[in-house]
Amino acid sequence: MRHLIEPTDLSSAELDEILTLALDIIANREKYSEVCKGKKLATLFYEPSTRTRLSFTSAMMELGGNVLGFSDANSSSVSKGETVADTTKVINCFADIIAMRHPVEGAPLVSALNSRTPVINAGDGSHAHPTQTLTDLLTIKRELGRTDNLTIGFCGDLKFGRTVHSLIKALSKFKNINVVLIAPEELRLPGYMKQEVCDKLGVPYREVKSLEEVIGDLDVLYMTRVQKERFLDEEEYERVKDCFVLTADKLRDAKPEMRILHPLPRVNEIATDVDADPRAAYFRQVENGKFVRMALILKLLEWAQQPERDRALISGDVIKGEHICSNPKCISNTEAHAVESMLRPSADGNGLRCVYCEHRPAK
Ligand code: CP
Repeated sequence: MRHLIEPTDLSSAELDEILTLALDIIANREKYSEVCKGKKLATLFYEPSTRTRLSFTSAMMELGGNVLGFSDANSSSVSKGETVADTTKVINCFADIIAMRHPVEGAPLVSALNSRTPVINAGDGSHAHPTQTLTDLLTIKRELGRTDNLTIGFCGDLKFGRTVHSLIKALSKFKNINVVLIAPEELRLPGYMKQEVCDKLGVPYREVKSLEEVIGDLDVLYMTRVQKERFLDEEEYERVKDCFVLTADKLRDAKPEMRILHPLPRVNEIATDVDADPRAAYFRQVENGKFVRMALILKLLEWAQQPERDRALISGDVIKGEHICSNPKCISNTEAHAVESMLRPSADGNGLRCVYCEHRPAK
């Protein structure tokens, strides 16, 4: 069985297969209108969403399939204490493929470990959002005609922004990528992303504190929202919430072919006077999300019939049950009675990382 939990679950060739299929779907919509007839997608959304949930729904409908699920966990038996593993086993009786969003990090991995059907991570806490990454890559490919040879600036909340973490991981599979990290001290990219992803996988990066000093170098400016819901300290949120605001005026020094991406929703980090600029690609990006999710659903259903495509969800040496993860929002803590802790050596060889959320074990 194949799942999509992390962007790195896909090889370069598989990423290319999905993006190529998405382009074919865009060019030949009618050809795909019944290819999922009789198939059902379950959307299990334990956290709010507009784009991801509705684009999955729209994607399956355009493929001729059906959709069931919930968008409010309180209306499901989760409110009675049902675990992610048990919910997954139940949904396996009703649907052919699952898309799960969850505020708890590692929940989609636990679902996949217990599933007879493909599971897609539709965003887990601050950890990962691989289908947003596919959306971003398709948008860059359609807007700029390439996914290699790019200087990409990530601006705003690089600490909690799961879309940023996932896209940087995926960019390691492309050639000649340079990353510019534009964030205040409090919202900088986590150390493990710099050491174990950028350094280890060969994604050169530099950190700066102002957008103005680098905007002229960028092929893509990836803006992000400061994620209020991830802060444990309200005062800290208030301090950083307005750290970067892109206005039409600030685009004066940007290249004419630069593209502005944003996973959305936005709050105030992109002024509405930017929307009319042809470089503003964020609403086109939303539509690409539907096409790439159509391609992903098709590929995962196809690969589920091909045992040679199977890949272990957890590979390498794993230490089970000996440590507690330091992240209170990790599923090994929130469902400690049902989920065994698992740690593996970190990519830089310096200690251990939680398999579910990539945090360190508690001291
Ligand atoms: N980009 C994104 O994940 O948006 P939603 O939270 O609306 O799904």
